[in-house]
Amino acid sequence: MHPILPPFPTTRLRRMRRTPALRDLAQEHRLSVKDLIWPIFITDVPGADVEISSMPGVVRRRLDGALRAAEEAAALGIPAICLFPYTDPAVKTEACEMAWNPENITNKVIRAIKAEVPDLAIMTDIALDPYNANGHDGLVRDGVILNDETVDCLVRMALAQAEAGADILGPSDMMDGRIGAMRAALEAAGHRDVTILSYAAKYASAFYGPFRDAVGASGALKGDKKTYQMNPGNSDEAIRLVARDLAEGADMVMVKPGMPYLDICRRVKDSFGVPTFAYQVSGEYAMLMAAVRNGWLDGEKVMLESLMAFRRAGCDGVLTYFAPEAARLLNQG
Ligand code: PBG
Repeated sequence: MHPILPPFPTTRLRRMRRTPALRDLAQEHRLSVKDLIWPIFITDVPGADVEISSMPGVVRRRLDGALRAAEEAAALGIPAICLFPYTDPAVKTEACEMAWNPENITNKVIRAIKAEVPDLAIMTDIALDPYNANGHDGLVRDGVILNDETVDCLVRMALAQAEAGADILGPSDMMDGRIGAMRAALEAAGHRDVTILSYAAKYASAFYGPFRDAVGASGALKGDKKTYQMNPGNSDEAIRLVARDLAEGADMVMVKPGMPYLDICRRVKDSFGVPTFAYQVSGEYAMLMAAVRNGWLDGEKVMLESLMAFRRAGCDGVLTYFAPEAARLLNQG
């Protein structure tokens, strides 16, 4: 679209920026509390419910703390929270059986929140890393991440979470074929209306560092995730991955990380027109918070500006650790 632009002084683009009212009228994109998904860290490990040092202001929560967060989200009008478990190193095995145990912390928290705050949407994470002695998202044999064997585990994990009452399943593992396998298993088990938000374009990024501290995967992880997560040098591949996941039954897709990959958000939205989300990941949060804590950036302003960037790039919503703070500001108007 190329609007007709008569030459100066007929055109003075500053006219529409002169007052707050005119700026409001001309604003193209808006950020609402309804665009936010709040990721929270949960744990059943005694003493682990502390602040994460690389993520100031973010804490791990026991079941009662998770319930309070759910109530807070609902009170603020945030539509969904997303659960990430920190697990006891003692339960991590090479076979990752705890990942699909109905009594693992994620499934317990899902049931508890659904009983108390039923209207809040609960999103989960599907990947083996919190339960894997190797710290990887997939099963490892002789240093190789196994695809098809991992997909079988992920399907079990998905079914256990759906059974517990999850509304949105979030496969973040980047194995091939997982969306189709999960969708078929959900249909067969009668979970026809459980949605899948696929981490379709997930890059092998150094911006996940603080998250790995939060879920306790940093110590366990051997090597890197480059054989399954995307090469940051690729863009066309993101389109192929999104097309593939949609064809296999994903309802929504995600680009991750967020701010360094806004070009991918835009391409995905323009190419497919499906519900598109970005994950403003732990490293992005840590980066902004470090500057804010030093007094170098205005926290409220950079938070809202960074979130608006996702809307402008075509995202329908954002997973962000800023969700409750941003919601408080947005609710003030
Ligand atoms: C793991 C997972 C990761 C994140 C979400 N799910 C880390 C990784 O892939 O190593 C990162 C989120 C963040 O950094 O905030 N499957």
